[in-house]
Amino acid sequence: STELAARCARLIRDVADFPLAGVGFKDINPLLADAPTFADVVEHLAALARAAGGVDLVAGIEARGFILGAPVATALGVGFLPIRKEGKLPGPTVSASYDLEYGSATVELQPGNLPAGARVLLVDDVLATGGTAAAAATLLRTTGAVVAGLAFLLEITSLGGRARLDGLPVDVILTVP
Ligand code: PRP
Ligand code: MG
Repeated sequence: STELAARCARLIRDVADFPLAGVGFKDINPLLADAPTFADVVEHLAALARAAGGVDLVAGIEARGFILGAPVATALGVGFLPIRKEGKLPGPTVSASYDLEYGSATVELQPGNLPAGARVLLVDDVLATGGTAAAAATLLRTTGAVVAGLAFLLEITSLGGRARLDGLPVDVILTVP
C-alpha cells in the first residue's frame, strides 16, 4: 500500500559513498528495528506470493535476503532455501557469478534441497542493477525450479535491474529513482 511504502521510505537511511565512493547505500536497518513495519513488510511480501498462486519454497539471497526471506517462508508455511555467497555451502552446489555496483560476486545453492519443478519465490531487500537477482534466478532455473516471482522491499529504478530479469514477475513495496 502507499501507506506502507511511505512508512518504509522514512525508515530507510541513505548513506552516500558506502561502501565505496560514488555508491549510494540503502540502509534498511532502521526499518528492521521498527517491529510493526518489519512485520508489515514480511506480510506484504507473503501476500504477493499468495496472489501469484502460492509457492512451494522461498529462496533468499545472502545476506539481507535472508532477513526478509526466512520470515516470509514461515508466514507462507513453506520452506526456505538459502542462496549463499561462494564457499559457504557444503556440496553438491551449483554457482553463478555476476557483477555488482561494487566488485563482483558468486552465488551458490544446494540443488539437493530444491525439488525439481518447485515453484519458488525469490526474495531480496533491494533490486539495484539486478545482477544479484538475475544470477540467483538463473541458478534456480538451472536446477529445474520455476521462479514464480521475485519480491523486493526496494527497487532503485534508475539502475535498470528489472530489465535483466527476463520478464519474470517482479513485485516491490517501494521504488526510488
Ligand atoms: C545488496 C543488496 C542486494 C544487491 C542488489 O547486497 O542486498 O542483494 O546488493 O544489488 P544489484 O541489484 O546491483 O545486484 P550485497 O551483495 O551488497 O550484500 P549483503 O546483502 O550481503 O549485505
Ligand atoms: Mg544482498
